Amino acid sequence: MWVVPREFPPVPFVDGRFLFVTIDRGRWTIDHGLLSIVTFGGSMLDKLNEIERAALESLQSVQDQAALDAWRVSTLGRNSPLMTVFAGFGKLSKEERPIIGAAANHVKVVLESALAERAQAVKAAVLAKSLEEEELDVTLPGRTVHIGRLHPSTLQLRRVLDILAEMGFQVYTSREVETDEMNFQMLNFPPHHPAREMQDSFYVEAEGREDNPLLLRTHTSPGQIRAMREYAAMAPENPPSIRIALPGMCFRYEQITARSEMQFNQVEGLAVGKGITFSDLKGTLINFAHRMFGQNARTRFRASYFPFTEPSAEMDIECFVCGGTGCQVCKNSGWLEILGCGMVHPIVLQNGGYDPKRYTGFAFGMGPERQLMLRNKINDIRYFWGNDMRFLEQF
Ligand code: PHE
Repeated sequence: MWVVPREFPPVPFVDGRFLFVTIDRGRWTIDHGLLSIVTFGGSMLDKLNEIERAALESLQSVQDQAALDAWRVSTLGRNSPLMTVFAGFGKLSKEERPIIGAAANHVKVVLESALAERAQAVKAAVLAKSLEEEELDVTLPGRTVHIGRLHPSTLQLRRVLDILAEMGFQVYTSREVETDEMNFQMLNFPPHHPAREMQDSFYVEAEGREDNPLLLRTHTSPGQIRAMREYAAMAPENPPSIRIALPGMCFRYEQITARSEMQFNQVEGLAVGKGITFSDLKGTLINFAHRMFGQNARTRFRASYFPFTEPSAEMDIECFVCGGTGCQVCKNSGWLEILGCGMVHPIVLQNGGYDPKRYTGFAFGMGPERQLMLRNKINDIRYFWGNDMRFLEQF
């Protein structure tokens, strides 16, 4: 059977022994039993018909993109039977060429549009399949997002600063890498003074700096000097009064044990002004203890020694674990040591640019980690920097 009805002009097709060529002005009929063109062209047209039929048939079984690509290569690719027809044009006679050319072009157009159509269908099928298979269950509960939290030290630091802020202390942050001069000398620890043994240091740079090496600050107290100098510079003749809290990390060259770490936080308090007395110091710290540990927390002051305060004291609060009767936490004393404090030493005031004849002041220093350990009965300070989530997630 030869007939393939076509719409495209000029469209040749063969029916029985006749070759029909449709052109603009009507139909030309060639008896292919008589003309050589038909003998040769007819077999070529047969071949094109067969190419088209086979290609359209195999396209039916194409279900996915890979098969689609393979079909395109084998049907319309450079080595496909259709393209070999185009390649054989040179061997055709002048009369055959337009007829076979038109027929081959037509087959090409038909196959290309069949390919496009099939591609559409394959795409739609793939989409439908994925919609069906990858169905989204919107009723499924979502995965919980892991929300981070503040470190317990930060939380406690903020509690301390909140209370101090209510009492009028402004936060003043100072550097963590200090000079020996600021960390010790200006605070009345001369070089080689035995009081330095309380605070073994990490030196950052000692070469060529003589008696003034760089070190990691061993306490927040050097911030006292920096703050006083900054305030004094505003009005050197009559410096303003100061009420600040200095929080931050401190570092000591310590053996790490359950009781001591080589890094820890401190919060320093400093008040400088005219007529400040030791009772201001006591009133402020007792008030602080009440707000931090409860209105009924009892406190006591013990005489102590720091080179940069005179007189110096340590404040204890009554052991809140045993209520003062004595237990392991308070080592049977009934009291827990909370902070060091004292009246700012006249030499320190002087070093800060404040005239000790006209100004007095008090200072105190406390450790938030220590407070948290006492409060929550944490028996090992190493938990704080141990990065154990089981510990950290409890706060
Ligand atoms: N800087 C002292 C320390 O680290 C604490 C302190 C601060 C004592 C201020 C008195 C006044 O041990």
